[in-house]
Amino acid sequence: MRLSASLSVVILALVSYATAAQTTASVPATAKPHHAAAPILAATPPMGWNSWNFFAGKVTDKDIRSAADQMVATGMKDAGYIYVNIDDTWEGERDANGVLHSNDKFPDMKALADYVHSKGLKIGIYSSPGPKTCAGFAASLDHEVQDAELYASWGIDYLKYDLCSFIPAVMMKQAPNDKAEQMRTMIAAYDKMGKALKASGRPIVYSFCQYGWDAPWEWAPAIGGNLWRTTGDVQANWQSIYNIINQNAGLAKYAGPGHWNDPDMLEVGNGQISRYDNKMHLLTLAENRSHFSMWAMLAAPLLAGNDLPNMKPEIKAILTNKDVITIDQDKLGHQGTRAYADGEVEVWTRHLVGGAMAIAVLNVGESRYSTHPFHLDLAKLGLHGAQKGKDLWTGQDVTLSNNMPVELASHDILLVRIAAPK
Ligand code: GLA
Repeated sequence: MRLSASLSVVILALVSYATAAQTTASVPATAKPHHAAAPILAATPPMGWNSWNFFAGKVTDKDIRSAADQMVATGMKDAGYIYVNIDDTWEGERDANGVLHSNDKFPDMKALADYVHSKGLKIGIYSSPGPKTCAGFAASLDHEVQDAELYASWGIDYLKYDLCSFIPAVMMKQAPNDKAEQMRTMIAAYDKMGKALKASGRPIVYSFCQYGWDAPWEWAPAIGGNLWRTTGDVQANWQSIYNIINQNAGLAKYAGPGHWNDPDMLEVGNGQISRYDNKMHLLTLAENRSHFSMWAMLAAPLLAGNDLPNMKPEIKAILTNKDVITIDQDKLGHQGTRAYADGEVEVWTRHLVGGAMAIAVLNVGESRYSTHPFHLDLAKLGLHGAQKGKDLWTGQDVTLSNNMPVELASHDILLVRIAAPK
């Protein structure tokens, strides 16, 4: 159990409040990111690896080094994965001067950062605006400037800042009966660390992890957020992955170079122990493909979360599919949208540089097979007549024609790039 029972209850209560607030949000998007002359940080969605989804609280210095080694050895670095991000449980205690030290699992953070940099990669770290992290380790409350300076002195390139204990320890304590004030307090805390990171002088990608509360897409870019979680935590099962896809429909206009919706880290290659049979159920290959394709359609950060030293070839093939990564990293930064749904099949489109278009046909359902295929309606995508493109999973040329049947196994996807849509 990562959270204490009482904290979990508080978080659950606030998540339902925030979800309700989210669906009724009526404030228009006014916050526009301010870009100075310096190159835009996270001009395309950040790509890398994060320790949490596979290692959770067990991660060590050795695991991070070996992840960095594997990112190079497997070709992931060449495919664009750059950040090696340490999630929760690296933190030790503060000394008499308030300086935070890492714990025994991470003997020397500067040496670790140097090692990761020596591979041509970048390194990320994790904290919380509250007194404790989600896993109960020391966090940044009242030490924001000191921590930002510490990260910069180690050579940190990315910070994931996770709300967690800030909820009960500050928001609920300071404004027990005032949700709006709680949210203002939360935004101020993210702003505070954003300013501390800027003042450190080091370009550090700033990732907000506050589960989509109070529509962060409306206010995060203006206070320096390069990405913000749009939902609760992803899990390695189709229901969780699809729920997240669904919750990101409608957020496209908020994404763009330097500021991205974050549907959470990748579970490609992972699985879960089922409470029904106590056995590990890995995501199927179709689910891994669909998950990865849809994160690319959503212009999502691509942070792999699997066991890199033991990655199977078919998982590596998915994570390093350069055509799909090119969709994700498209310079325009236009997030894809759901064009239409027909029963359990959804069709999403994404506009790409040079007038190109990506089309994803996703079979969301559990049990639909080939006996009654879905038929593609090109007019609903604004297209007229046959469209020549490339199937990004077979690598073959493909022509999409109006009303053509598309047969997809459960949870599988057809992802096509059309160079010159008509
Ligand atoms: C929260 C975050 C996760 C992970 C854990 C670490 O649940 O949403 O992504 O960082 O905390 O404790």
